[in-house]
Amino acid sequence: MRLEGRVAIVTGGSRNIGAVYSKRLAAEGARVAIADVLDGSEVVKEIETAKGQAIALKVDVSKEEDTIRMAEETVKRFGRIDILVNNAAIFLSIKRRPFYDLSAEEWDQLSSVNIKGPFLCAKSVFPQMKKQNSGKIINISSTTALAGTPLFLHYVTSKAALIGMTRAMAREVGKFGICVNAIAPGLVEHEGQTVPKEFTEFQLKARSFKRLQTPDDLVGTLVYLSSSDSDFVTGQTLVVDGGSIFY
Ligand SMILES: NC(=O)c1ccc[n+]([C@@H]2O[C@H](COP(=O)([O-])OP(=O)(O)OC[C@H]3O[C@@H](n4cnc5c(N)ncnc54)[C@H](O)[C@@H]3O)[C@@H](O)[C@H]2O)c1
Repeated sequence: MRLEGRVAIVTGGSRNIGAVYSKRLAAEGARVAIADVLDGSEVVKEIETAKGQAIALKVDVSKEEDTIRMAEETVKRFGRIDILVNNAAIFLSIKRRPFYDLSAEEWDQLSSVNIKGPFLCAKSVFPQMKKQNSGKIINISSTTALAGTPLFLHYVTSKAALIGMTRAMAREVGKFGICVNAIAPGLVEHEGQTVPKEFTEFQLKARSFKRLQTPDDLVGTLVYLSSSDSDFVTGQTLVVDGGSIFY
């Protein structure tokens, strides 16, 4: 129970990796607000069945009125905000293709969720974290930004943007006791994602550990960055990919 008494917001927490993050933070004692465009009530039920506490909030991270309400409702229900996990992103629905076939509208739509979303969420929780003189903001990047993975340029660019955002924001909010860090997962295989066989094979070849990466491989790093064990760590991007990219 390393997060006893803490309150966490997990954006995009209603399914797949975000749901695993939400459940693990709750298992460590945090009360969790799941903020998603999708309904997070199933994950809330699972957390409550395991004797944890959680709420589901309908939030579009690209809309400031939603992210402000997300912070307000979390404080109203749980009294504070200690951890923000910026996990929500447009990802699974992307059809990979050359950058010159992407439309300007697709670029804007993805950027408004994957880049503006984490900015708005951080901006919305900041006043509360500042008041508490502590906080943990964790941005979910991706090793695609480090590897330069082709055929979804808007996505890769958005995940690279989060590394820059993490560094610059860390410098701005250190004086308020707030840590800002990022996790860059490698290709994570889960039931929501159909991965072409050649992608999996390519990943396994490059990886030091010759097995698939699962959402559970990420939660130890997430708990570390959420807990006081990482209080002197900020502006960092931790690669969690089984030893494929050394960053
Ligand atoms: N799966 C992988 O291989 C992998 C690898 C590296 C990084 N990531 C990152 O991990 C995170 C989770 O990925 P996933 O595989 O679980 O994908 P996913 O698509 O299942 O998760 C994204 C979540 O964000 C939510 N979301 C989308 N738009 C939103 C919006 N406007 N407002 C609020 N919520 C919104 C979705 O409803 C979903 O719950 C993403 O940030 C992704 O980029 C995934």
